[in-house]
Amino acid sequence: MTTIIDGNEVAEEIRAGLADAIDTLAAEGVTPGLATVLMSTDPASETYVAMKQRDCEEVGIEAFDYELDPDAPADELYSVVDDLNADDDVHGILVQMPVPDHVDDRAVLEQIDPAKDVDGFHPENVGRLVAGDARFKPCTPHGVQKLLESIEVDTEGKDVVVVGRSNIVGKPMANLLIQKAVGGNATVTVCHSRTEDLAAKTREADIVIAAVGVPELVTGDMLSEGAVVIDVGVNRVDADNEKGYELVGDVEYESAKEKASAITPVPGGVGPMTRAMLLWNTVKAAAEAAD
Ligand code: GUN
Repeated sequence: MTTIIDGNEVAEEIRAGLADAIDTLAAEGVTPGLATVLMSTDPASETYVAMKQRDCEEVGIEAFDYELDPDAPADELYSVVDDLNADDDVHGILVQMPVPDHVDDRAVLEQIDPAKDVDGFHPENVGRLVAGDARFKPCTPHGVQKLLESIEVDTEGKDVVVVGRSNIVGKPMANLLIQKAVGGNATVTVCHSRTEDLAAKTREADIVIAAVGVPELVTGDMLSEGAVVIDVGVNRVDADNEKGYELVGDVEYESAKEKASAITPVPGGVGPMTRAMLLWNTVKAAAEAAD
């Protein structure tokens, strides 16, 4: 029997745990605040930001919503970030990526106060993570750790293949997995578009984490029997339905499910966890600011 890992259920448990921390902060007169900054009309980005705001409201985090015209000068975005850095009611700042081409995304990330960088993308926080002293674990890899924990998969000593080397998922995921810590202590191989024989690598893995953005790249025949499969991908592919598209992961679900001992669905796997861990980081930021 393959375990289908229910990200919605695990995310709900995380949110319930955060509710206690939020109550404690409320007793000290602190309401955690998260500002989202959207400079895009991409429907997927718009949806993500709207969902993040709704999540905040549900758990008692104040959501501050900033939307900028994608054609606005980059300085407008910098000035919003400056204001948010200075605003004591805002404990977390999230600038939705990608930003338009005329905006230097690295410069924006570096401008965010590292103590409010709930994405964990600021170089200072990346450095802390790599050094084994993470302040904010990036939300998606942290969510993946929580999913593995939820099905009692211990990563210690396991061979893990991460497919994808993005700054948002692949790299921080690999870093968390090699830490001397719970959820770490794994032997990690990071594969990417230049990997010569991906299937040979994934077939060796106890755990495969696909975060590459290629629809259904990882198929059942690329897995070892009993592998744990975490699918981070969310790809819109054309479909003959009302919306005209459907969401598929980076894993070919049906064939992978035949081989895997546990697998995340898309949607309903990693996605809800990314959102829950953003709330986690925001509460952490608020608690640290209140100290
Ligand atoms: N775009 C896609 N994923 C993310 C994320 O985790 N954080 C931000 N800021 N933008 C994203």
